[in-house]
Amino acid sequence: MSRKKSLPPDESLIHPVTSAIEPIDLAKLFPVEQPLELELGCGDGSFTLQYALTHPERNIVALERLLGRLAKVDRKGHRAGLKNLRLLRAEAAYLLEHLLLPGVLDSIHVYFPDPWPKKRHHKNRLISGPFPPLAKRLLKDKGTVYLRTDNVEYFEQMLEVFNGAAGFEPTETPESLKAMMTDFEQVFDAQGIPTNHAAYWKTGG
Ligand SMILES: C[S@@+](CC[C@H](N)C(=O)[O-])C[C@H]1O[C@@H](n2cnc3c(N)ncnc32)[C@H](O)[C@@H]1O
Repeated sequence: MSRKKSLPPDESLIHPVTSAIEPIDLAKLFPVEQPLELELGCGDGSFTLQYALTHPERNIVALERLLGRLAKVDRKGHRAGLKNLRLLRAEAAYLLEHLLLPGVLDSIHVYFPDPWPKKRHHKNRLISGPFPPLAKRLLKDKGTVYLRTDNVEYFEQMLEVFNGAAGFEPTETPESLKAMMTDFEQVFDAQGIPTNHAAYWKTGG
């Protein structure tokens, strides 16, 4: 089996996470300082690549724990000459809690996070009680969390978690954002499985 090569470090969009303690100043990863958005669990990167391509006025950081998927996004982003996309290989909850500076993000996108359908595995879900306070610390005032899932039961959990969280109010997801489908979403959509969308903005309270 032939393995696709990773890009050399000077061409790669992947920023190596070298410390488990020192925060990463995301703004410094880009040539131009502009609004900063984070996607957690970008998978094969269809959303993040489209979003970065169509929004050169925003800086996008996409996080994924699987190297194979991230390397694929890296090659495509590099080929497209994207200067406003950087990639991180890390575990989402750890990064949110320990490796980011407060008040730096305009948006957080979490699309089709692993649903962990068995009840005994629900504790592994990313969007659970601890998530809103972590997001609140990292977002600027009026910053927004965008959520999508095909899983109705997980979607109900997402709504419950955010509706009960201090400092967030529900808001609309722009149609232009909904139109940019993720890889999983394209597969579900082809099978007639609808996407559930939710968005919450930080009220500052
Ligand atoms: C179901 S896939 C969805 C991928 C993409 N968002 C999409 O909609 O096509 C979930 C992705 O999140 C990644 N992931 C799951 N848990 C993670 C974690 N704790 N930290 C980082 N990535 C994670 C998985 O490796 C996988 O690529």
